[in-house]
Amino acid sequence: MPRALVTGATAGLGAEFARQLAAQGYSLVLVARTVDRLVAAQAALAGDGVEVEVLPVDLATDDGCAVVATRIGAGDIDLLVNNAGMGSYRAFGEAELSREEAQLDLNVRSVMRLAHAAVRAMTARGSGRILNVSSVAGFVPRGGNVTYSASKAWVTMFSEALAVQLAGSGVTVTAVCPGFTHTEFHERAEADMSHVPARMWLDAADVVREGLADTFAGKPISVPSRRYKALTTAAQKLPRPLLRRIMGARGY
Ligand SMILES: NC(=O)c1ccc[n+]([C@@H]2O[C@H](COP(=O)([O-])OP(=O)(O)OC[C@H]3O[C@@H](n4cnc5c(N)ncnc54)[C@H](OP(=O)(O)O)[C@@H]3O)[C@@H](O)[C@H]2O)c1
Repeated sequence: MPRALVTGATAGLGAEFARQLAAQGYSLVLVARTVDRLVAAQAALAGDGVEVEVLPVDLATDDGCAVVATRIGAGDIDLLVNNAGMGSYRAFGEAELSREEAQLDLNVRSVMRLAHAAVRAMTARGSGRILNVSSVAGFVPRGGNVTYSASKAWVTMFSEALAVQLAGSGVTVTAVCPGFTHTEFHERAEADMSHVPARMWLDAADVVREGLADTFAGKPISVPSRRYKALTTAAQKLPRPLLRRIMGARGY
């Protein structure tokens, strides 16, 4: 039975990754901070006959990353889903520096550390997949969420560059880049999203379905939904001064 390790597995996209992978016959290792929610997720999935381990750690810390990296180093993880992430949704300079640093620790440093452990274990046996959850925010300069935007640009480029390095190794790497998706993400950030039109919101189940299909197809970059594919393609083709003007006017 294949095994997947999913970070941020108790809510939103991570919980959906866990559910869809379980339905595809995967055993699971679930990672998040809140023990009660991990145990509830474990019980719900185990009720369906799925083998589930839980690792309650804070991935914004060295110790938390080390626990998960050691588990990956055991060599039996077929798919790593680096999903846990946070957004600041505060003007840079207004929010405390510690909030910006926590974002980099979780969105960048933990992704790099767990991928490092996975690349060693997976290349040693010549197979495996790494799915890094990035964002369309990594394609556009988002004032008001500056460190988040930059952190996701890092995740997308890191994934693509690693995919180039690992071509032919039997290990694939995919950056899944969702647009606005209904989860707990914006509520946690206490972000007012009332200006975002309803048509811009995606369902977590659709994002995960398309992200997993692209991952299993070995694509380096996945942008779920036709509308966000069109928007990210346009964003990459527009002259940067025009893109900056649009982003400034929209306030995204
Ligand atoms: N929702 C969107 O619109 C959207 C759009 C584009 C990209 N994304 C990306 O999608 C990914 C998942 O986001 P989501 O929307 O599903 O968020 P969510 O609903 O807020 O879920 C976040 C999950 O991550 C865990 N988590 C948070 N901080 C953690 C930490 N320091 N260490 C370990 N686990 C932690 C949470 O559990 P605990 O609190 O118990 O730790 C929870 O399981 C993120 O990388 C995000 O940037 C989201």
